Parts: sequence; structure tokens; C-alpha cells
Amino acid sequence: MPELTLDGLRVTARPGTTVLAALQNAGLSPLRRSLSGEPRGALCGMGTCSECRAVVDGVTVRTCLTPVRNGQDVRRLLEVNRDF
Ligand code: FES
Repeated sequence: MPELTLDGLRVTARPGTTVLAALQNAGLSPLRRSLSGEPRGALCGMGTCSECRAVVDGVTVRTCLTPVRNGQDVRRLLEVNRDF
């Protein structure tokens, strides 16, 4: 079973699931903030909306398309970032 870290919380995930599922199973919502500070979370669940972005091992990814792997470090994007 993959073990990963979600915002500093160590969790075990089922193999074959996504980082999004691991975040949701841990009750970690929202996933990020909009430019105006509004909470945002997954909408489509299939890689189209990009609302589920988070940082996995230093890279911004769509969590609904990212499989869990042992040792991942996942960080939500909760601070408003106007650099995008
Ligand atoms: S939930 Fe829409 S891209 Fe991930």
C-alpha cells in the first residue's frame, strides 16, 4: 500500500487510486484558492477542468490524473498566487 504525505499528514492509500482520491478520503478540501481567494475543488474528475491542481513532489499536477505512489509529498495550493 502506498504511503504518502498530504500537507504534512501521513496517509496510506489504496494502490491504483489517484492523489485526488487520497486527498478527498483524508477530508482535505478545498484543494486550492482562486485568484480572488475563493475555495476551489475538483469539478470534472477526468482531467478537463484543472480545478484539482496541487503540488506533488514540487510539480503542479492535476490530482485526478495523478496515481498515488509511495513516498509522494502532496501540498494543496491554499495561498492565493497571482503568478499564474
Ligand atoms: S477534477 Fe477536473 S481536471 Fe481534475
